[in-house]
Amino acid sequence: MESLFGVGNGSAPDRNLALEFCRGTEAAAMLAGRWMGRGDKNAADGAAVSAMRYMLNTVDMDGIVVIGEGEKDEAPMLFNGEKLGTGKGVPIDIAVDPIDGTRLTAMGLSGAISVVAGAPRGTMFNPKSVFYMDKLVTGPEAKDAIDITVGPAENVRRVAEAKHKAVGDVTVVVLDRPRHEKLIEEIRSVGARIKLIPDGDIGGALLTCKTERGADLLMGIGGTPEAVITACAVKALGGAMECRLWAKNEGQLASALKDGFDMDRIIRLDDLVSSDDVFFAATGITDGDFLSGVRYDGARIVTSSLVMRSKSGTVRFLTAEHQPRKLDMLSGMKYTASSR
Ligand code: FBP
Repeated sequence: MESLFGVGNGSAPDRNLALEFCRGTEAAAMLAGRWMGRGDKNAADGAAVSAMRYMLNTVDMDGIVVIGEGEKDEAPMLFNGEKLGTGKGVPIDIAVDPIDGTRLTAMGLSGAISVVAGAPRGTMFNPKSVFYMDKLVTGPEAKDAIDITVGPAENVRRVAEAKHKAVGDVTVVVLDRPRHEKLIEEIRSVGARIKLIPDGDIGGALLTCKTERGADLLMGIGGTPEAVITACAVKALGGAMECRLWAKNEGQLASALKDGFDMDRIIRLDDLVSSDDVFFAATGITDGDFLSGVRYDGARIVTSSLVMRSKSGTVRFLTAEHQPRKLDMLSGMKYTASSR
């Protein structure tokens, strides 16, 4: 049987698709990063989408976008159902967010990344019309401790115990949104610390999976595409994740019910991505706590990426130097800066 690791008994992996995906996230980050601080979200997103599409279409795979983005805010998008890759090779589901943090990019703020994940066909959760999920994420040390049904305060206590630290040493990442007022109050009431992020809960979740990055939990409501992508990363890093679908208004609730979803159901890591053959790549666009942003240095562009494969458990941090003039000639895209 052919697996993502090649034909046969799986002892001889043929290629790590995450390394191929990284070319896509690097290209998207390099082109989107040109729009940093220029106040134009859609231009940044458009640049990232085109670069990502161009690069992923060169990969030998039979890819289908199952988690694209754009419907939520009508931004440029890699649309759901779009085919990616040369069509040769393994059938694979793609979850893609050319920029997680479009506003961060447009405002020149920290934490924007470009990200792609892949898993064997049919193994990723399809959120259909549901845009939001309530999320609970932690790293490997506390993976058996969390339970979304017991509430934020109890989860903080459980994670503190699992990590042998005081509740006051626990840091929870939360998206800064009015809808999280009560959540923030509850976390504060047990004495835990909070890292409020303006956007980018994929990057926020990653922080919880590596002890040295200084966060223990991510809690709160964010996008469903981001939840599926986060699940791929959490799987590769050995953490845990639990979610519940969330509707912002009556209209969203009606669509979710029409799609047959049970809003109370607990959606766990294996529901979000059931395979253990998961690939993940992310590149920093603006500086963040996990990855540095793109550096433009005249003749060179430097990118920082995270590349992971869950089955092997390999986690790579890659710094790459690119030559924009050569890339301009090799590709149909413009990596050099435009001068006026
Ligand atoms: P985009 O950059 O793709 O717009 O997403 C940013 C983001 O902050 C995600 O990280 C998060 O999951 C989602 O938006 C939250 O949605 P909203 O901004 O509607 O609260």
